Amino acid sequence: MSANRPGIAITGTGSYLPKRVMTNADLEKMVDTSDEWILSRTGIRERHIAEEGEGVCAMGAAAGRQALAQAGVAPEEVDLIVLGSFTPDIYLPSGSCLIQDMIGAKRAVCFDMAAACSVFLYALETARCMIASGAYKTALVIGAEKLSPFVDWDDRRTCVLFGDGAGAAVVQSGKETMGRGMIANVMGSDGSLAHLLTVPGMGSRHRLTAEHILNKDVCIKMAGNEVFKHAVRCMSDAAQKVLDMAGMSMEEVAVVVPHQANMRIIQAIENRLEGLKGKFYVNLERVGNMSGASVPVALDEAARTGVVKKGDVVLTVVFGAGFTWGASLLEWGY
Ligand SMILES: CC(C)(COP(=O)(O)OP(=O)(O)OC[C@H]1O[C@@H](n2cnc3c(N)ncnc32)[C@H](O)[C@@H]1OP(=O)(O)O)[C@@H](O)C(=O)NCCC(=O)NCCS
Repeated sequence: MSANRPGIAITGTGSYLPKRVMTNADLEKMVDTSDEWILSRTGIRERHIAEEGEGVCAMGAAAGRQALAQAGVAPEEVDLIVLGSFTPDIYLPSGSCLIQDMIGAKRAVCFDMAAACSVFLYALETARCMIASGAYKTALVIGAEKLSPFVDWDDRRTCVLFGDGAGAAVVQSGKETMGRGMIANVMGSDGSLAHLLTVPGMGSRHRLTAEHILNKDVCIKMAGNEVFKHAVRCMSDAAQKVLDMAGMSMEEVAVVVPHQANMRIIQAIENRLEGLKGKFYVNLERVGNMSGASVPVALDEAARTGVVKKGDVVLTVVFGAGFTWGASLLEWGY
């Protein structure tokens, strides 16, 4: 928890969605489900799915290039690249290094972060702190996820929810017009609930065997109902807490950009936080839950379509496996 210093702001955003669109009608042919069930229980109509060979890093690089162009920053000016993702192209070396090479950000220090669906906000806050230290001026923060290889396409309880994509933001200090910049941030984690949303076979505990793959241990396992309840409570509390911390009212918030997991989760938060009603930017109908890419893609869309304008106060609020959660108040910088 920290009250942020002024003058560090998002000065450009970008996003990338794979070309292939998978509709609810497509899913009807794969599992026992219906467009009606998916739409009424989640709010999702379609999601984008990356091709075989199209990885998180290419998607993240595309979003990153767009964010740099928007900010008027050359790749050589980037001091720091932070990739938030739990699905990088490969685990060694880090995805951020691969992205550095793809975009030609030769001077950048690169590292990856993991905090599941909350990771973009964690990465943004990390970049802000590193910039606030005075050691760095310009960061490229990327949230990118290719969830499709980790989805059990036979499990109707999870396969209808997720999509692939990437979003990015340039974070800078030192420009005169930045106002309050990144105003305040809160984050929280609870590892005792890790088992409720996990990919149990992806990692070093066990050597990967054919049996793990047959058992779908490398797929997302989720207790949907439990996750739902925690997501509503944690995101509502985090939103209220960050406003209290900044001494700001809900009326001062122009737009809320929540993690895009489920329309009913977003509506439940809206019902708890009456003063924010009608301010939520939602795109999950078209893209589903893209984990760490959800918030940066939604922020970029909101900025490009004029929903978010320079000087607006934006409240982002996230929740993900871990559990992890957080909220940030940002004065929009471009
Ligand atoms: C997954 C989720 C949509 C399920 O919705 P729900 O209303 O909780 O549904 P339930 O899991 O209680 O299942 C109700 C019934 O619908 C069925 N069902 C589940 N998925 C279905 C689907 N795609 N199509 C048709 N029926 C489905 C279940 O099998 C169950 O049937 P049963 O009663 O005969 O056993 C919801 O729990 C959710 O969104 N949770 C949060 C997930 C999330 O956001 N995770 C990421 C957080 S970052």
